[in-house]
Amino acid sequence: MDLELSENQRAARDTARRFARERLSTVGVEVDRTHGFPAAAVAELGRLGMMGIFIPEQYGGAGLDHVSYSLVIEELAVECASTAVIVSAHSSLASWPILGLGTEEQRKRYLPKMAAGEWIGCFALTEPQAGSDAAGQRTRAVRDGDSYVINGTKNFITNGPEAAVAVVFANTDPSAGHRGISAFIAETAHPGYQVVRIEEKMGICGSHSAQLSFSDLRVPRNNLIGKEGDGFKAAMKTLDGGRIGIASQAIGIGRASLEASLRYAQERQSFGKPIAGYQAIQWKLADMAVEIDAARLLTHRAATLKDAGRPCTAQSAMAKLFAAEAAMKAATEAIQVHGGYGYTKEFKVERYFRDAKITEIYEGTSEIQRLVISSHVLEDR
Ligand code: CAA
Repeated sequence: MDLELSENQRAARDTARRFARERLSTVGVEVDRTHGFPAAAVAELGRLGMMGIFIPEQYGGAGLDHVSYSLVIEELAVECASTAVIVSAHSSLASWPILGLGTEEQRKRYLPKMAAGEWIGCFALTEPQAGSDAAGQRTRAVRDGDSYVINGTKNFITNGPEAAVAVVFANTDPSAGHRGISAFIAETAHPGYQVVRIEEKMGICGSHSAQLSFSDLRVPRNNLIGKEGDGFKAAMKTLDGGRIGIASQAIGIGRASLEASLRYAQERQSFGKPIAGYQAIQWKLADMAVEIDAARLLTHRAATLKDAGRPCTAQSAMAKLFAAEAAMKAATEAIQVHGGYGYTKEFKVERYFRDAKITEIYEGTSEIQRLVISSHVLEDR
C-alpha cells in the first residue's frame, strides 16, 4: 500500500476540504437545529462530482478510487456528519451495487443521474425485525409477468424520503433462507413507495432515516440485480464497501473532536496557564491523534483492497469497528477537555458526541463487526 497520496487523491481531498469549510460548517450547525435535509449542499456536491466519486467517467462519474472516496467522506464529516452519510449511503449502498453487480442497461439508466446528484439513492435492507439478522427479510417480491410486485416494510432507511432510486431487498422464495433473497432497483416515483415516517434521532439530524412501506410496488423484471436468490450476498458485498464510507465518516467526526480540543486546550487558562500545558490533557490529545491516524490507515487499506478487486470483508469490518470506537472516544474526551462548556450548545463537541454514536450502530453494529472479524480470524487458523 502506498502511503503517499496520488495527485488525484490529494486534489479530491482538497476540493472536499474547501467545500466543507466554506459551505458545510454552517450547514452542519443548521441541519442539527432544524433537522432539515441539506438539499442545496447535496446539489452542489453533485455539480462538483462528489456524488459519483468512484463511478467511472463513462457513466458520468469522477472515475476516482475508494481512497479518494474515503478522503472526501472524511472531509465532509469534519464539518457535517449528516452530509457525509447522505453521500456515503448514496454512493456505497445505492450506486455501487448497480455499478458492481448490475447489468450494462441498469448502469446506463441509473448511474449518470446518480453521479450528477440528480437522483439520490437509498438502500432498503433493514426491516423492523431484521436489523443485525439481515437474512430475516419479510418483504416479499412476487413475479407477475414482466415485473415483480413488492410488499413489505423497511426501517431506518437513510435517504429514504429524498431517494429517486432505491436498492430494495425482498424475499422471492421464503423457504430458501438467505438464498431466497433477491435485490431490485426500484424507482420511488412509482406508485406503492411510501414514506411512513422520519425518525427523530439524537444525532446526524440532517440525514433522514425513514420507515418505508411498499404496497404493490412494481419493479420491471430487468431491474433485478443478478439472479433471483443473489440478494443476500449482494447486500453483504455492498456493505463491505459501505463500511469503508462509515469508517471515513467516523474518522471525520474524530478529527473534528481532536481539532476542537487542540484549539480549546491552547486557549483555555486554568491555574495560570493554558490547559494544554497539563499532562492530563496532553495524554488525551495524544490518544485521540493516534487512534484517528490508525483508523485512517485501516480504512485506506480496506479501500485499496476494494479497488484491487480483492476480498476486503474483514478489513472493512476492522476499519469500521476501530474508526467508530475511536470517534466515540475522541468525542467523549473532547467534551471532557472542554469541561462544563463542552456540555453546552455553545461548542460543537456535544454534536460530535451525538453524531459519533451512530457510527457504532449502522451498517452493522460494533458487535456484528466483531462477529465478522472473528469468523475470518478463526477461518485463517
Ligand atoms: N461477501 C459475499 N458473501 C458473503 C459475505 C460478504 N461480505 N458475507 C457473507 N456472505 C455469504 C456467505 O459466504 C454465505 O454464503 P453461502 O450461502 O454460499 O454459504 C452467506 O452469505 C450467508 O452468510 P452467513 O451465514 O455468514 O450469514 P448470517 O445470516 O449469519 O449473517 C451477518 C451474517 C454478518 C450477521 C450479516 O447478517 C450482517 O452483516 N448483519 C448486519 C447487517 C447490516 O450491516 N445492516 C446494515 C443496514 S444498512 C445501513 O445501516 C445503512 C445506513 O443507514 C447508513
